[in-house]
Amino acid sequence: MQDFITRLPKAELHLHIEGSLEPELMFSLAERNGIALPYASVEEVRAAYQFDDLQSFLDLYYQGMGVLRTSEDFFDLAMDYFRRASAEGVLHVELHFDPQPHLARGIELEAVIEGLARACRLAQRELDLSTALIMAFVRDRPAEDAMQVLERAAPYWEMLDAIGLDSAEHGHPPEKFVEVFERARALGIARVAHAGEEGPPAYIEQALDLLDVCRIDHGVRCLEDSALVERLREEKMPLTVCPLSNVKLKVVERIEDHPLPQLLDAGLLLTINSDDPAYFGGGMRANFLACQRAFGWTETTLLRLARNAIEVAFMDEARRHELL
Ligand code: ADE
Ligand code: ZN
Repeated sequence: MQDFITRLPKAELHLHIEGSLEPELMFSLAERNGIALPYASVEEVRAAYQFDDLQSFLDLYYQGMGVLRTSEDFFDLAMDYFRRASAEGVLHVELHFDPQPHLARGIELEAVIEGLARACRLAQRELDLSTALIMAFVRDRPAEDAMQVLERAAPYWEMLDAIGLDSAEHGHPPEKFVEVFERARALGIARVAHAGEEGPPAYIEQALDLLDVCRIDHGVRCLEDSALVERLREEKMPLTVCPLSNVKLKVVERIEDHPLPQLLDAGLLLTINSDDPAYFGGGMRANFLACQRAFGWTETTLLRLARNAIEVAFMDEARRHELL
């Protein structure tokens, strides 16, 4: 089954590139940039990755990304992930990146986007891995900041496949970002948003009604509202589910308790993703394998889930045809 999962043509639609920063690379970038880490070893970093909820993870995630300073660092970060993903049979990666915490540390947007974009071009050439860029806004900062970043990104609008919305969900409903998402829509940029990870089903509804998103990231709490489930099914709205993330952040207690089987039974358009693989115990292969073991999924189910992602990915039709 492990071989089948590796060979399965996989597209990853929900990946925070800053969350792919492995402790080994964190140490080498810290050394290159003369940054002192609050850890003595790689093992100590890994041991610190015990989370109670989303916020306890975000605290370490924002701290970890502090080693990223130059365009070269962002390039190395992305290439490091692309090589690992490619070795697991991932053929397409859509990477969220969070400009705001980098800008707040005095890093230029150019360094972030140009480093990532250079890695994307090399991945296509060297690994036959296609990619898409999703510029995410952190919802626990003011909407005005997000709007400023969107305007500042004008030289890169053409390169963005979508904007996204992430970070601490509680108390930061999608409605806070209506104007930013309206602006992106006017610019012709697609929109996705995290909703219903820790937040209530009403946030999923808001993301659909007010932000006009084409995908919901996570969305697992939709099951608390049967009318919403029916709507998501009718609209064939993709959910980018992240099983190991949900276990690590205690959205569910154990993988066996994950609502994926109910979501599947409800006829929803689901995809499997890793979210922040360096923090949550593995990439795409580990996520597929954990689900297969927990739910006894057949090859047919695994194939369906992998195809779903390719069908709704931001990729040109020739590439989609090649992967399907
Ligand atoms: N940023 C990185 N990972 C995230 C997650 N799982 N939820 C919200 N924001 C995030
Ligand atoms: Zn996420």
